[in-house]
Amino acid sequence: MCKPSVRRDDAARAAESTSGVPQEPHVPYALPDEDEWWQRFFESPDSIKLSYFPAPPETQRELDGIPHLLRLMPRDRILDACCGMGRHAVPLAAIYPHIVGVDRSAMMVSMAADAAARAGVPCRFVRADAGRLPFRAGQFTKALNLFNSFGYCETDEGNISVLAETARCLEPGGVFLLEIRNKVQQLMAVPYSRGERLAAGLRVRLHCYYDASRRRLNSEWTDADDPDVLHHFASIRLYDPGEIKSMLTSAGLRVVGLYGDYDGAPFEPWHWKLILLCRRDT
Ligand SMILES: C[S@@+](CC[C@H](N)C(=O)[O-])C[C@H]1O[C@@H](n2cnc3c(N)ncnc32)[C@H](O)[C@@H]1O
Repeated sequence: MCKPSVRRDDAARAAESTSGVPQEPHVPYALPDEDEWWQRFFESPDSIKLSYFPAPPETQRELDGIPHLLRLMPRDRILDACCGMGRHAVPLAAIYPHIVGVDRSAMMVSMAADAAARAGVPCRFVRADAGRLPFRAGQFTKALNLFNSFGYCETDEGNISVLAETARCLEPGGVFLLEIRNKVQQLMAVPYSRGERLAAGLRVRLHCYYDASRRRLNSEWTDADDPDVLHHFASIRLYDPGEIKSMLTSAGLRVVGLYGDYDGAPFEPWHWKLILLCRRDT
């Protein structure tokens, strides 16, 4: 069992820079006082590396598909919930200027705002919890929640609140695109272990496994030289299509399309992604 540690690494390890990512001395994972894992993880530059964000060509394929799936129009008021570093919101803002990105991570919001400034697009970013959105009801016509950003909360109630808040902020008839992992494929891939490097170059070992009792996919990154030191931890609740559909329904969102990729391919069990297109009816 991994023992969380607050041991501080050699600051020299942190000196190595990763382009565009804020650098700060790396501190191994410590059990947070009250925050959930993701509220800590995404404040670290390591999260950029360890989340395996899609490379630019894949991001471009997503950006090509999103406007078609959501039937975006330039006048749409768009919410990108859990927007991260603005991978979608910033390029979309060049054509769809009324877009607001929301993320709980100060680091991600600051990176997204910098990216928007560099691109010269009018995108706004707000630091907030997607389960308690700081917007009035019906403010948006379209909403996104993409790339494994859903299912982080410890409880199903917490995760439903993210859907319910998105529904509340959509106008009646508004449309929501949610991408989650395909549980079946995830379960076939685990458990596994492999070596990795943190943003500052430190060698770690990833152990990824499924916790069946809590139905969560857990990732632990321990020190390559000292497996008792846990540097990072991540955990995501996996939902099967039936479960997520009924959660969306209870949040007031009707599923109108199930896709396996952004090109609009209908969802099949072998797809890695499950993309749900939902409508707020009333
Ligand atoms: C894997 S990243 C994906 C970011 C972005 N959607 C993308 O595709 O690049 C997940 C992001 O979701 C954010 N996040 C997860 N749950 C959240 C919540 N309840 N409220 C706000 N942000 C959240 C995290 O802070 C993190 O930046």
